[in-house]
Amino acid sequence: MNRLIKVAKKTLINNRKLNYTLPTNTKLYPAQWNWDSAFIALGYSNFNLNYSFKEIETLVSGQWSDGMIPHILFHVKDLSYTPNYKAWNCGKKISSSGITQPPILASILRIIIERQKFSKKEIKKYQALILKIKKYFKWFIKYRDPKRTGLISILHPWESGYDNSPLWDKPMSKIKIDSKLEYKRKDNQIVNKNQRPLKIDYDRYVTIKNHFRQMKYDPKKLFYKSKFNVVDVGFNSLFLKALKDLNFLLGLIGKKNSSFKKYILLNESKLIKLFNLKKMKFKNKDLKNNTEIEIPSITNFFMLYADLNNNQINTQLIKSLKKYYKNDKYFFPSISSNHKSFEDKRYWRGPVWINCNWIIYQGLKNKDKKFSEIIRKQTINLIEKQKFREYYSSKTGLGLGAKNFSWSAALYLDLKLNNT
Ligand code: GLC
Repeated sequence: MNRLIKVAKKTLINNRKLNYTLPTNTKLYPAQWNWDSAFIALGYSNFNLNYSFKEIETLVSGQWSDGMIPHILFHVKDLSYTPNYKAWNCGKKISSSGITQPPILASILRIIIERQKFSKKEIKKYQALILKIKKYFKWFIKYRDPKRTGLISILHPWESGYDNSPLWDKPMSKIKIDSKLEYKRKDNQIVNKNQRPLKIDYDRYVTIKNHFRQMKYDPKKLFYKSKFNVVDVGFNSLFLKALKDLNFLLGLIGKKNSSFKKYILLNESKLIKLFNLKKMKFKNKDLKNNTEIEIPSITNFFMLYADLNNNQINTQLIKSLKKYYKNDKYFFPSISSNHKSFEDKRYWRGPVWINCNWIIYQGLKNKDKKFSEIIRKQTINLIEKQKFREYYSSKTGLGLGAKNFSWSAALYLDLKLNNT
């Protein structure tokens, strides 16, 4: 067996706590993160189905009574992270953050269940999880698209998972920072501060969080009052794909949902409109300030992952994706290296992220097999050179951020062991 496959498995096991896994073994992220756990569960499913099931079960056990599954679960009352469980002050059985993250969990669960070719009896074990995820999606539609426009809003940059992306620069620049902010960052002591978000970003993240806390995280109020309310192409693409996958899973357990079917059609028709076919450009909508955002981000291409029922758009998306990274030796840069906001080493402002590559790869598999194989192989090569880092420079391939990063290990396993 390839040596790095062994190391990848070991990395996950070493980062594993009781029934959940940390994003890395350093002190950078000492809790359970929502989309990290989904990718990690996929990694485990390649060698330990029990760990994979437990990872998801633990994540879902943090679900709020309204249906939300938080972006962070603080299983240990640890004060070392900023903002820690006290600063959020929410979550019922399990302390948590008061916001969510991309619900890729449903898509991951579908892959795991389909690959295993489970019998009806084995699928039964997953029934309770599927129903809880259904509640999670109802929450999204009810509270993040209360006017049923067909598009889901995120109310904090952390909800996107691409925290300091230039996508948020304009809406964030409008936010007045609280005058009495009290918090102490540790992330920029653990990792080189040139590879982390700026102070001004954190000031605004914490300002939005404090505002949510004042409103007691009431989902009915947050949508209308949040200082940040954005319809993001990437997030909606992940949402749409996940909703399609959830509907498939509900079918497996005999619980297909017709209201989801309607929302899928509505979401798809609205999402398509965020891509301008002629100019080959995407737009995100800043609902708070009633403006549009046009930033060349890899996350826009998650539209390929949404499996749109539209060949013309898919073909154009592939064409633009090929142009998007043509100046980069290692791909995909999180932000186009031609754009003025591109920064080679800073977090979500340029570096290559393995989860983005995995998402694009999945989206291309059934549309352009040859291109998808190039992505799979190049992503594997990058990891084999630099090991399981949090992100990598698109110019030099240098590994950056945290070491022993769980989702890079998990997705390496997945890319290496599954190429059909
Ligand atoms: C950062 C990333 C986010 C990830 C988390 C834990 O906040 O931006 O995507 O889930 O770290 O790895």
